[in-house]
Amino acid sequence: MASVIIAGVGSYVPTKILTNEDLAKLVDTSDEWIVSRSGIKERHIAADDEATSDMAIKCAQAALLDAGIKAEEIDLLIVATCTPDYLLPSTACVVQHQLGVLPHATCFDISAACSGFLYALEIAYGQLLTGRYKCALIVGSEKLSSIIDWSDRTTCVLFGDGAGAAVLKKVDQPGIGIIGSDLGADGAMRELLYMPAGGSRCPASPQTIANKDHFLRMKGKEVFKHAVRVMEKVAREMVEQHHLTLDQINLVIPHQANIRIIEALASNLGLPLERFYINLDRYGNTSAATIPIALDEARRAGKIKPGDYTLLVAFGAGLTYGSTLIRW
Ligand code: COA
Repeated sequence: MASVIIAGVGSYVPTKILTNEDLAKLVDTSDEWIVSRSGIKERHIAADDEATSDMAIKCAQAALLDAGIKAEEIDLLIVATCTPDYLLPSTACVVQHQLGVLPHATCFDISAACSGFLYALEIAYGQLLTGRYKCALIVGSEKLSSIIDWSDRTTCVLFGDGAGAAVLKKVDQPGIGIIGSDLGADGAMRELLYMPAGGSRCPASPQTIANKDHFLRMKGKEVFKHAVRVMEKVAREMVEQHHLTLDQINLVIPHQANIRIIEALASNLGLPLERFYINLDRYGNTSAATIPIALDEARRAGKIKPGDYTLLVAFGAGLTYGSTLIRW
């Protein structure tokens, strides 16, 4: 029986840091409000000339180095992002060219917002198991600062820019790597978190620009409630499906959106908060990038050891959600 393992991980965040105090100079907010309502203290913001693909390339190079794999060996490249360089071509094609991934590789983007990295993991896992591909590179990269209304205090305090990547390959050893995943979506809730214009439903026009329709819109309270509910559901289901108990999970890496969401999830699951990897205080919500950045940091901090079970759990616009169980 073969398995698909994560052979390497890497992450990158832009150098510029935007603190809560900096934001308080832009909108009517305060460090106290942002920390108490979200747990976020600062976030990294990409340079004007730094696009999603530029960040993707940097974290991908780190992941390839970590895996000891050359770009030429990658035959499947997936970028999960809701802030692509262009609507077309895909950001994956830009990354492919800049990284030196060979032309025969399959390269595409996926759109599952903050659950994007888990969706990409599932796709790569399935494709590697079939034997059709040998080595996959999956990236979550976001320049959310490009779709944020910096005059809207209800959203601009929550998000940041960054990227994380993983290299996946098949090994002839049963019971390790990606053990399973449980993904879902509920399109009925698509307008809780969306960007109204810029797509085919509402192409760019002077009117859409005047209406600020090219910025993210969110109903924060509703998103919060659904986030806690669906993440608890998929976390429990994943553990039960694999005949484990929550107690056996050594580390949970949740999507980093709000500390209060993670606290509610921990409490509902009956797990101590120490069992969760949390770095949203430093990065805010980087959408598809939060989980691979956290995974990279957790590994480097020695929080993941051989034999450990790690549970990744996410939710995002769509509303999409999912959990992935990994054994190291
Ligand atoms: N600074 C100061 N006050 C702010 C503020 C800010 N940045 N943003 C909102 N407020 C105000 C509101 O206007 C409101 O004022 P009012 O009572 O006079 O109307 C008050 O603070 C409370 O706002 P509310 O929306 O009830 O706060 P909340 O406790 O629900 O927290 C969020 C708001 C957005 C932090 C929270 O709902 C959340 O995190 N939701 C999930 C969002 C998310 O995760 N999105 C990403 C999904 S991938």
